[in-house]
Amino acid sequence: MSNAKAYSAASATSPLARTTVARRDPTPHDVEIEILFCGICHSDLHTVRNEWSGVMPTVYPCVPGHEIVGRVTRVGSAVTRYKPGDLAAVGCMVDSDRTCHECGAGLEQCCPNTILTYNSPDKHLGGITYGGYSDSIVVDEHFVLRVPAGLDPAGAAPLLCAGITTYSPMRRWGVGKGKKVGVVGLGGLGHMGVKLAHALGARVVVFTTSPGKKDDALRLGADEVVVSRHADEMKKHAASFDFILDAVSADHDINAYLNLLARDGNLTLVGAPQKPFAVAAFGLLFGRRSLSGSIIGGIAETQEMLDFCGARNITADVEVIPIQKVNEAYERMLKSDVKYRFSIDMASLKSE
Ligand SMILES: NC(=O)c1ccc[n+]([C@@H]2O[C@H](COP(=O)([O-])OP(=O)(O)OC[C@H]3O[C@@H](n4cnc5c(N)ncnc54)[C@H](OP(=O)(O)O)[C@@H]3O)[C@@H](O)[C@H]2O)c1
Ligand SMILES: [Zn+2]
Ligand SMILES: [Zn+2]
Repeated sequence: MSNAKAYSAASATSPLARTTVARRDPTPHDVEIEILFCGICHSDLHTVRNEWSGVMPTVYPCVPGHEIVGRVTRVGSAVTRYKPGDLAAVGCMVDSDRTCHECGAGLEQCCPNTILTYNSPDKHLGGITYGGYSDSIVVDEHFVLRVPAGLDPAGAAPLLCAGITTYSPMRRWGVGKGKKVGVVGLGGLGHMGVKLAHALGARVVVFTTSPGKKDDALRLGADEVVVSRHADEMKKHAASFDFILDAVSADHDINAYLNLLARDGNLTLVGAPQKPFAVAAFGLLFGRRSLSGSIIGGIAETQEMLDFCGARNITADVEVIPIQKVNEAYERMLKSDVKYRFSIDMASLKSE
């Protein structure tokens, strides 16, 4: 076992603070990674503050972080795909049962026994798993991803959650040339949704509550921007979308977006607000519209997304911060003041 430096929260109301966590010695199938960058996802904040207590109660201390890029330092004797010195990545999962129907279909994120990168039972050391706000992590080779050469590691880190979470449903619902696609909420997920939908060839409309993000949205690849609080702007798009991705982290009216779907259009929720939604039946009935959800993506599809981004030099727009600023970053995230993902430079943890 080795000790890793990390930042953890001691309770739902505590700020994140410096701590030490145990990491296992690599077993034959494990890869040990020195973490270089870790993105800050809104799910980290939801978990740290126990906002999903009904579904996934948080076990403390909690070390969040599931957008990890780092350098391989050691590998187990049976590891074939990685060697010390390689750039490697870890996303939201570190294990699954690998025997069920879902795992067989490459949908490890739907496995009933998925082990998440943090706040899941740790079958090696007992207790729970600790995530990427740390200087190292040990992960089974199957759940380690390859970072395409040439991608900036700080900007590539958010691809491991924000990238795959937006890529997967867009592939599933056929986003591409000739499709009109809406992205609701220009945060970490939303801005990746815009870049990826644009790269897939769709016509992209961004819905934002922040008028100040308009120019950025266009620069990121949107064809049009709607300030969702302006009813007249919303009305212009009635019954016209093939697909809408809702990436909002807080309570909001999804009926307003269901009404913008064309016949057989789909709205996929990836945002995970604490409170349940109220859905008006007729918003779905008229036009045979559908509402669905999506959670990250499988390992093979995550690699496909990374390679897609590698071929097009797509990364997140990041504000790189030292880990000492993580609590401030959380407060800014709550004010929708992120352009468009915080990426923690883990070198800042070395000095502590
Ligand atoms: N399904 C999955 O697998 C998955 C994976 C990762 C994250 N998530 C969830 O997805 C959500 C977004 O995550 P994120 O990291 O992208 O968060 P984020 O960076 O904080 O972005 C959320 C965006 O939502 C909009 N927003 C915030 N409060 C709002 C409100 N009250 N009404 C309307 N819009 C509001 C803002 O965009 P504007 O300023 O443009 O309005 C904000 O930038 C979170 O709930 C997170 O837990 C799900
Ligand atoms: Zn995430
Ligand atoms: Zn499984």
